[in-house]
Amino acid sequence: MRKNKVVVLPGDGVGSEVVSSACEYSGVVNPQLKYETYAFGGAAIDTEGEPQSPAMLKVCRGADAVLLGANGGRQLESSKPRREVGSLALRKELGSYANIRPIKALAGVTSAPSPLRPELVADVDMVIVRELTGGIYFGEPRRRREESAGEEKAIDTGEYPTSTVKRIAGLAFRLAKERRKLVVSVDKAKVLETSRLWRDVVTEVQTTIFTDICLSHQSLNSSAMRLLRDASTFDVLLTNNMFGEILSDEASELIGPIGVLSSASVGDGQLGVYEPIPGSVPDIAGEEVVNPVGTILGAAWMPRSSLDEPKAAIWI
Ligand code: IPM
Ligand code: MG
Repeated sequence: MRKNKVVVLPGDGVGSEVVSSACEYSGVVNPQLKYETYAFGGAAIDTEGEPQSPAMLKVCRGADAVLLGANGGRQLESSKPRREVGSLALRKELGSYANIRPIKALAGVTSAPSPLRPELVADVDMVIVRELTGGIYFGEPRRRREESAGEEKAIDTGEYPTSTVKRIAGLAFRLAKERRKLVVSVDKAKVLETSRLWRDVVTEVQTTIFTDICLSHQSLNSSAMRLLRDASTFDVLLTNNMFGEILSDEASELIGPIGVLSSASVGDGQLGVYEPIPGSVPDIAGEEVVNPVGTILGAAWMPRSSLDEPKAAIWI
């Protein structure tokens, strides 16, 4: 059966601008695509009272791909409950446990060059693999309450079971097989128990299955420095949800203009959520000045990985 069902979630801020450019390109190249558009994130709070409706989530589960603009309306800041809203709910619902973010300079995209010296970023060609449905983003308990008069306490829980680490490590190693066969796994093993387990499991997956891949481990802090000093030495960077959130934004700065990078959130099947990096950037929403290249690249990635249409990917 032809895979052509794409759910479009423009979301907040500049989301609808970038998504409409991407749909335009995809539609020209692949007129068979069937788009269904739903409100999402802060925009959905305005229209439906919640950031993600059960109906929308159900349609996404049955889709071939999801094209997401931006999740981050100001409405989300005051929404209750705060957990698993918008993107997080979507990831959990769709089982998208991996976020893949390629970081590579694009010829011709120089409107806002990298803040780093050109020679430090010229050869950067790396992929960040971030675990997306575990760790401190989802762990329980999480709460905030008053312990005594004037003294509140908030708790978040960072947890990682073996199976979750194995799954994401396998994905990173498979990706590295198609590339330069180097994986750097980033953790904070000197301090965190979850990182010590992470390191053991990643090592075990490499030594038992992916012996042709060169694996090294690096601490969060030194990998944050290495991204600024020596990013071209990375091929695949594998890390947990929270560290990946930070390092992937740091890495996208290497390339320069916000909006030119894309990412895919995937699970075990072919269904993927494709989205650009910039976020909703509400200050410039509506001005039609945001660069939609990242979303268009996401729309080019989508037919290859989710729709069995590699030719459409090449055309875009
Ligand atoms: C991202 C975003 C999200 C995250 C937000 C929108 C919840 O920053 O996709 O990287 O923190 O994971
Ligand atoms: Mg982020």
